[in-house]
Amino acid sequence: MLETATLETILERHGRNPANIIAILQDIQSAANWLPEEDLRLVCQALEIPLSKMMALATFYKAFSLKPRGKHIVQVCLGTACHVRGGERIQGAVERELGIAGGETDEDLQWTLETVGCLGACALGPIIVVDGEYHGQMTSAKATRLLSRIKKAGGNGAEE
Ligand code: FES
Repeated sequence: MLETATLETILERHGRNPANIIAILQDIQSAANWLPEEDLRLVCQALEIPLSKMMALATFYKAFSLKPRGKHIVQVCLGTACHVRGGERIQGAVERELGIAGGETDEDLQWTLETVGCLGACALGPIIVVDGEYHGQMTSAKATRLLSRIKKAGGNGAEE
């Protein structure tokens, strides 16, 4: 759950306007990495909209998560082009490195692993995305090194 001041800032930024609900949800997810139900309830009260409407929006858009997610989000592309170039092997390497399976978040809320369809950059495949940054021509060894480096540095490993 976000701090009250953070939630208030988000609501103010969007003029407490129910028409801006998607942007408000985006900001909450950006701040918390997911959409805590307590926060959604407070937003509903503040904007005087029914929780059912809010939940319908939150579940409709795939970008929103109603489950806790880690500080770092790793997406492994399993679209056709990446799949034929070893996407599943890379997924296995990522799972071993992080100790979680696809769709899971670790107990410390550090890592979430997602598998996704085509990310629209097939020529660079196979691809993994870490915290929004694309890493192309991936191999199991490169993925393991990348994640290991991020674990040590606490950053996003972009310095490679
Ligand atoms: S299949 Fe992976 S980017 Fe297209």
